[in-house]
Order: sequence, then structure tokens, then C-alpha cells
Amino acid sequence: MRTIRSPQAMTVWSERLRREGVKIGLVPTMGALHDGHRTLIRSARLKSDALVVSIFVNPTQFAPTEDLAKYPRPIRKDRVLCKEAGVDVCFEPTVAAMYPEGFQTVVTVPSIARRWEGHTRPQHFSGVATVVTKLFGMVRPHIAVFGQKDYQQSALVRQLVKDLNLDVEILVRPTVRERDGLAMSSRNIYLSTEERRIAPILFHALEAGRRAIEAGLTEAESVQAIMHKVIAGAPMMEIEYLAVCDSRTLEPLMKIDRQAVLLGAIRLGSVRLLDNVLAGRKKR
Ligand code: PAJ
Repeated sequence: MRTIRSPQAMTVWSERLRREGVKIGLVPTMGALHDGHRTLIRSARLKSDALVVSIFVNPTQFAPTEDLAKYPRPIRKDRVLCKEAGVDVCFEPTVAAMYPEGFQTVVTVPSIARRWEGHTRPQHFSGVATVVTKLFGMVRPHIAVFGQKDYQQSALVRQLVKDLNLDVEILVRPTVRERDGLAMSSRNIYLSTEERRIAPILFHALEAGRRAIEAGLTEAESVQAIMHKVIAGAPMMEIEYLAVCDSRTLEPLMKIDRQAVLLGAIRLGSVRLLDNVLAGRKKR
């Protein structure tokens, strides 16, 4: 496995392989890799001949009040995981190389980015959209794999690829969970023992909503009430949103007459937990 830090060297490597007809896969990450990332890497490995994992803690998607400085950066451990998973290149650009002096262009996907995570974190998705567009430009992958864990992010990436005619196939893989249902996340290490014990309640609430929909409930308000009731049993949790949305546009649904995604974000101590589940049949 090679480590490449320079964007120019990354593009030279990719272009040479592309000319030879090699199919290139990319898994963009911010490092602190766990089994969720490992599953995306495995999946990308099966779909490509040469695999790049980018590790870049992207400052532009963090608000000034967020945890950029303390975001975990166990780079040696990450490289070992990548090597063991059969990655060909760990792409680790520096902040200076990614955003050189004079950098101006920002990619925004206004409609998808407006609600939910975008409401709580206003600059977040333009940071994500910009860095993902840049990574695609540098790595030039044929396919790129993202996790359903960040549902709104994956919807945003699909939209920007379509709108900007980027020649990259986007694959989204299911959320990998701990045994008790908690979605794996690089931020779970900040949970205290007591917080960690109750953290799976977010997933339980979303699952209760999904079961109700699959049993025939069609009023989004009633589904929301069911989800809220599950969380109300855990007094340490502060709900940011529990929403029933169209799985494609992410707009809230009143009546569940198509595939829905149940989105949830809660605060538990200093940690924000984020999760989602799909519910109902696809009718498109
Ligand atoms: P990061 O949080 O490191 O996540 C990298 C990828 O791993 C994302 O596609 C995310 O959805 C996926 N992922 C995280 N936890 C997962 C889990 N439990 N199961 C399955 N997949 C999971 O998301 C980002 O980085 C950044 O925003 C990035 C896209 C790299 C742009 O900076």
C-alpha cells in the first residue's frame, strides 16, 4: 500500500491506471476508521481493481464551535486497517494542499442541505459538497462508496454528481452497528459508560417508527409520536429532530404513501448521535 499526500501525485497515479483500463474505487473518510468504514472499503474493493481511501479531516465542514481540533486522528492505526483491507493508496492531503491561498469556489446543494443536519450545522454541507467534488477531481474514481449512516450526505452527493455531470458511480452501503444497535461512529468514543449504555435508544426509536409504518400506519405525526415516546423514557437525551421524510427529497411527509426515511439526531451529554432507517415500500 502507498501513501500519497500530494493531489498532483494522486492524479498522476489515477490517470496512468485509467489509461490502462483499470477501474478505480474511492472511499472518502476523515479517518478514525472503524468497522463501518471497513465495510465500505470491503465493498469498494469488490467493485474496483484499484482502491483509494482518502483520509482528510476537512476543516470546512466543521463549525467554529465544533470538535475539529479534538477530532481523533489515529493515522498509524488507520493505515494498518487500510493495508489489511487491501487498499492500494491511502490519500492523505494536507489542509494547505486542499485549500491553498486564494481558494474561493464553494459547491452548494441548497435544497437537500437546507433541513435536518443543515439546519443545525449551516456551513456543514457546503464543506462536504466542496471537498467531495475536489476529491473526485483529484482521485478521478469510477466508483465511490458512502455510508447510509449519513443519509443526508449520501443524498447530497448523489444530487451533486447528477447536477454537475460527474462521471462517478455512487454506491451507498447500509449502516454498520454495534451488537446493541448503536450506529458505529468515530465520535462514540466520547460517550461516558452511562451514556454509552443508553445510546442505542435512538435506533430503538427509529425502529419503533419503522415497525409502525410497516404495520400500516400512514400518518407521519403518529409515527413521530411513537418515536418521541421511546426517547422520552431516557431523560438524559435531548432531541434535535426525529423526522419522517421522503427518502429521495428529504422533505417532511404528512402521509406516508412512498418510501420514507426516518431521520434522528439527539444530544447525549457532549455527543450528538445521528441515525436513520428506511421504511415502507419504494413506489417509484
Ligand atoms: P466519515 O465520518 O469518516 O465517514 C466516511 C464514510 O463512512 C461516510 O460515507 C459515512 O457515511 C461512512 N460511515 C460512517 N459510519 C458508518 C457506519 N456505522 N456504517 C456504515 N458507514 C459508515 O462522512 C465523512 O467522513 C465526511 O463527511 C466525508 C464524506 C469524508 C467528507 O469529508
